[in-house]
Amino acid sequence: MVYGLTVLTLGLAFYIHLAKAELFGTTKRNNNGNTPRYAQVIRPSSFAVLDNVPSPTQHNFTTLFYPPGTDAQSLKAKPFLIYDDSFYDIIGSDPTLTLIADGGTDPLFHEATVWYPPSDEMFFVQNAGAPAAGTGLQKSAIIQKISLSQAANIASNGNGTGFVHVTTVNSSVQVVNPNGATNFRGKIVFTGEGQGDNVPPALYLVDPNEPYKASVILNNYYGRQFNSLNDVAVNPRNKQLYFTDVTYGYLQDFRPAPVLPNQVYKFNVDTGALGVVADGFNLPNGITFSPDGKYAYIADTGANAGFWGFNYTKPATLYRYDVNDDGTLDNRMTFAFIDSGVPDGVHCDNKGNVYAGVGDGIHVWNPSGLLLGKVWLGETSANFQFAGKGRMVICAETKLYYVTLGAEGADITNSNYSG
Ligand SMILES: *[C@@H]1O[C@H](CO)[C@@H](O)[C@H](O)[C@H]1NC(C)=O
Ligand SMILES: *[C@@H]1O[C@H](CO)[C@@H](O)[C@H](O)[C@H]1NC(C)=O
Ligand SMILES: *[C@@H]1O[C@H](CO)[C@@H](O)[C@H](O)[C@H]1NC(C)=O
Ligand SMILES: *[C@@H]1O[C@H](CO)[C@@H](O)[C@H](O)[C@H]1NC(C)=O
Repeated sequence: MVYGLTVLTLGLAFYIHLAKAELFGTTKRNNNGNTPRYAQVIRPSSFAVLDNVPSPTQHNFTTLFYPPGTDAQSLKAKPFLIYDDSFYDIIGSDPTLTLIADGGTDPLFHEATVWYPPSDEMFFVQNAGAPAAGTGLQKSAIIQKISLSQAANIASNGNGTGFVHVTTVNSSVQVVNPNGATNFRGKIVFTGEGQGDNVPPALYLVDPNEPYKASVILNNYYGRQFNSLNDVAVNPRNKQLYFTDVTYGYLQDFRPAPVLPNQVYKFNVDTGALGVVADGFNLPNGITFSPDGKYAYIADTGANAGFWGFNYTKPATLYRYDVNDDGTLDNRMTFAFIDSGVPDGVHCDNKGNVYAGVGDGIHVWNPSGLLLGKVWLGETSANFQFAGKGRMVICAETKLYYVTLGAEGADITNSNYSG
């Protein structure tokens, strides 16, 4: 295992700016039922009836919800918000949230959050569509990675100072405007959103080890360019790739007008067979499967149309599908509507609870769609990922967080190593 600077990687150190109050819980939920130091209980009954329900011009899709008696400061001070008591098991006795890197104005910490167990590193990508990054049409977003042991050291450093090296990953074939990614057969498959008229969106397979050999494994639908590939997941049962295609490249001015609907595809890497498994979305986005492979969760971020603005009556919604034995998707069900922004990246823990990156952090539901709790950031997370048991990394655009908690991620790393 090699960490840090190497010939082909560029290490960037970011000094962290830690808000002292929000770190390092030491108390447990004891026999008297006390909550962990960095958690607080929010009862939905406390806001079923509000004294004043703000007008739509004051509170809507663009604003965050503060339950009665809370404000930005009190939520940040105890960021693990328990909406249902089963959230205690998810956060464990001593959850912590630590800022480990700060990109300033550059949204370096966007999506494609992938844990690579052999080196215990977390990969992620810059925001391709953000003006502040200068990416999209002018230049491609980049892939980067961090060492999790270094992140853990920072998180356990009591006085809250430190930095994590953020290492640039230059693959042999450049992944042009990467956005989503997942583990696949010991490597990482990335979705590329494409660039302009002549670089088509594509799926790339990248070796997470230097020199990061990479190849394009799909770049068209029967000769037509995709719109801009967004996210990809492997179904644990049939091991095939499912991915979303959506017009964000167009809505963010770096791709031409679409020539396909926004929809979800299934791709068999071995045979090349490619088909559509779901449509009828506004803007399909994050995709994942339950650990048993029987459900697919797909986010629709229709309420956020990029540079075209917001439309509050469009979806900010997670849908659930049954995955049939033959791999087709069935029985679309409305699983959750998000109270803060849109749901983007979505992942399950090993018990089948569902986590999504949204406008105020991470929301967690049980498989029945009951909101169990939130990891409150007060800012948008487009994606995040477990690193096995008890560890999570959250991308929040210009900020990167390290979380310790009780839950364990669904095994998306080893279950799909075989053919
Ligand atoms: C990675 O690629 C970028 C863009 O081509 C280049 O500026 C940078 O020097 C490369 N970094 C390394 C470590 O090769
Ligand atoms: C939504 O809320 C924001 C913040 O209060 C406000 O600026 C905006 O005008 C509101 N939008 C509508 C359509 O009322
Ligand atoms: C606390 O932070 C300072 C830098 O501000 C550092 O030099 C020192 O080693 C840290 N102490 C501990 C115990 O980590
Ligand atoms: C929002 O979407 C609805 C449904 O498509 C449409 O009727 C409405 O005009 C849109 N509003 C805005 C402000 O774009």
